[in-house]
Amino acid sequence: MKVLITGGAGFIGSNFIYYMQEKYPDYYIVCLDALTYAGNFETLEHAMKKSNFRFVKGNIADRESVFKLFEEEGFNIVINFAAESHVDRSIKDPEIFLKANVLGTQVLLDAAKEYGVDRFHQVSTDEVYGELPIDRPDLFFTEDTPLQCSSPYSASKASADLLTFSYYKTYKLPISISRCSNNYGPYHFPEKLIPLMITRALYEQPLPVYGDGNNVRDWLYVEDHCRAIDLIIHKGRVGEVYNVGGHNEKTNLEVVKLILKELNKPESLINFVADRPGHDLRYAIDPSKIQLELGWQPETLFSEGISKTIRWYLDNSKWWKSIVNGEYRQYYERMYKEK
Ligand code: NAD
Ligand code: TYD
Repeated sequence: MKVLITGGAGFIGSNFIYYMQEKYPDYYIVCLDALTYAGNFETLEHAMKKSNFRFVKGNIADRESVFKLFEEEGFNIVINFAAESHVDRSIKDPEIFLKANVLGTQVLLDAAKEYGVDRFHQVSTDEVYGELPIDRPDLFFTEDTPLQCSSPYSASKASADLLTFSYYKTYKLPISISRCSNNYGPYHFPEKLIPLMITRALYEQPLPVYGDGNNVRDWLYVEDHCRAIDLIIHKGRVGEVYNVGGHNEKTNLEVVKLILKELNKPESLINFVADRPGHDLRYAIDPSKIQLELGWQPETLFSEGISKTIRWYLDNSKWWKSIVNGEYRQYYERMYKEK
């Protein structure tokens, strides 16, 4: 089996590569990644040791090189993780999100159509559904919830989903789409809530909580997401969307306080800052479809997953210190100066 994993030098893609190498040691895996600020070649250090793994540095929107790669390799399965993924960056500069997330996906779809694949899987997000009210805990996102995007990031992901589905209807490309809730775990870039708070708390720096900290996210340990994608690409129905989430809703303030407690740091580090424009109030997934059809269940409890994640950041400080002390430092100062 020949598998293309795009965006595999990022957070979820790299965890998926390690998951696949462990579960399917005979699969030949190619990772295509542009190594943007979010991609880190060091993350794939252990994957590179396997002879049936190939890393290709390249942009998914670069038609010529993508077509050449598909021609050379003849992939059975393509899983598209590659994307610009940070909402705050999309608010500052939407264009790169459209180029990578929409036009990049279109190039991959064209290549898959041209050379043929057994499955093209698009890794999407629950953010395409917009927000749910905080005072209606009975409401959840289902696969039929209308798309209603709040940020340029989510609009670009929704566009890619629509494009992916259109290649199924028009060209009979065997596609599937997953829409997962917020992930956390190892190799998470420290601009996102959980790794940002862990790494800043370790330095006893102020922790910037947007607005009143009461926005709700539905957190899932990254390995549970990897298992869901594995099930979908092997057993899921073609042309279908699967929501992935573990009924683990937490306010941002609850998450931050838990991290501080685990690290034995004072709550006085919490610093309420200006809210994110268009900040979605609540995300919450109804995962019944993937549970009933594919038997998927989350396996890692939040209390266990957050401890494992904190342990990973403590044990791998070289990985994140080179990020937070590098170019990212200017990003942080620029981004949070106005808050
Ligand atoms: P990430 O930002 O950590 O990694 C993205 C990777 O894609 C990086 O390695 C980057 O170099 C690469 N990349 C970006 N643009 C590229 C391009 N044009 N060509 C090739 N490579 C490119 O993101 P992540 O958190 O790992 O998210 C992966 C995917 O999962 C994204 O599609 C995202 O929308 C989706 N998703 C993320 C979450 C989450 O909680 N992080 C939840 C649901 C879905
Ligand atoms: P984030 O990790 O950026 O994921 P997403 O916006 O895709 O859900 O943010 C998670 C939540 O944490 C979101 O409600 C915004 C909030 N947040 C803060 O309060 N402070 C921060 O510095 C960041 C990055 C996020």
